[in-house]
Amino acid sequence: MKKKNHVLVTGGAGYIGAHTVVELLNAGYEVTVIDSLERSELRIVEGIKSITGKEFSFHKIDCLDASAMKSLFEANQFDSVIHFAAYKSVNESVEKPLMYYQNNVGSLMTLLEAMKQYRVRDLIFSSSCTVYGQPDYIPVDESAPFKKAESPYGASKQLCEHILEDMATVGIRVASLRYFNPIGAHPSGLIGELPIGVPNNLVPYVTQTAAGVRAQLTVFGNDYDTPDGSCVRDFIHVCDVASAHVNAIQYLEDLKAGKVFEAFNLGTGKGVSVLELVQKFIEATGVNLNYKIGPRRPGDVEKVYANPEKIVKSLGWNPQYDLGQSLKHAWQWEKKIHGLS
Ligand code: UFG
Repeated sequence: MKKKNHVLVTGGAGYIGAHTVVELLNAGYEVTVIDSLERSELRIVEGIKSITGKEFSFHKIDCLDASAMKSLFEANQFDSVIHFAAYKSVNESVEKPLMYYQNNVGSLMTLLEAMKQYRVRDLIFSSSCTVYGQPDYIPVDESAPFKKAESPYGASKQLCEHILEDMATVGIRVASLRYFNPIGAHPSGLIGELPIGVPNNLVPYVTQTAAGVRAQLTVFGNDYDTPDGSCVRDFIHVCDVASAHVNAIQYLEDLKAGKVFEAFNLGTGKGVSVLELVQKFIEATGVNLNYKIGPRRPGDVEKVYANPEKIVKSLGWNPQYDLGQSLKHAWQWEKKIHGLS
């Protein structure tokens, strides 16, 4: 068998990063992971090793550290890079915009410098459907224009995509994956998200409420122009998000010469409301959930879900898990965190 390429994964101990490292190792890639561990823990790295039974190099490096990045690229011959390392809290970004621009844009710039200097050509970038804002039509496809970002976090993702488009002229080829709403955890129960403090996102809030960590879930608004009045999103199992990165690496590897910046929606194409998700959680886990309807959350988009045609056709990607399985896996992970059976 042809030796598989060597992939650098930044932020590989994070939520989507860790699940992607599992998929890469299972697909036979040589993987090097860097992570600052500022927002994750070494036990996730151990979890990846337990799931795959495979070894990989791990370095505690912050992508902003230009000299550490240079040494890393000096010591390794990478064929491609997947860049996850970034902050991702919408609320926090509103409170600390500079921190978000510095970290999210700054780390990409440092990485690109190293890639350029050491002639590493292929990059998969973690983008977000937040670049679309509230699109004029749904399901949204990749040709929809960027609307004014709802938060500095969203603006940082837009900026990064602009920078990456410009990099095509210096020979860096990019697949930018625009994630919709990743949820769930690895079916093994060995890795998952480690939310810091009170979760902003729906599913960690749901599972923490079910586990008794939070008293009650508030559904933010039931007066939207949607079938049941609550917001609509495209929830996608994190392992399906992860597997798309392997397809994207393969896609770039197989390309002939030429400039490339391609964005891909990474969602299921199914719109699910917040209230539908709550019902599905109760049905899939058999656990009751204490929830109430509250006011709208400022800045929320009413409804957004993907047209995933491009990623399905161009990358040959297909999601494997449905919503019930995603929620079961999220619950299994939550129980694991608290030592519940
Ligand atoms: N929600 C609740 N109660 C909660 C938490 C969330 O009702 O306690 C609702 C929100 O109002 C929203 C839906 O659940 O309608 C999903 O909210 P999330 O915070 O889980 O996800 P968002 O769609 O708001 O945000 C996600 C990513 C962001 C990204 C954004 C782009 O977390 O990184 O999609 O739309 F910017």
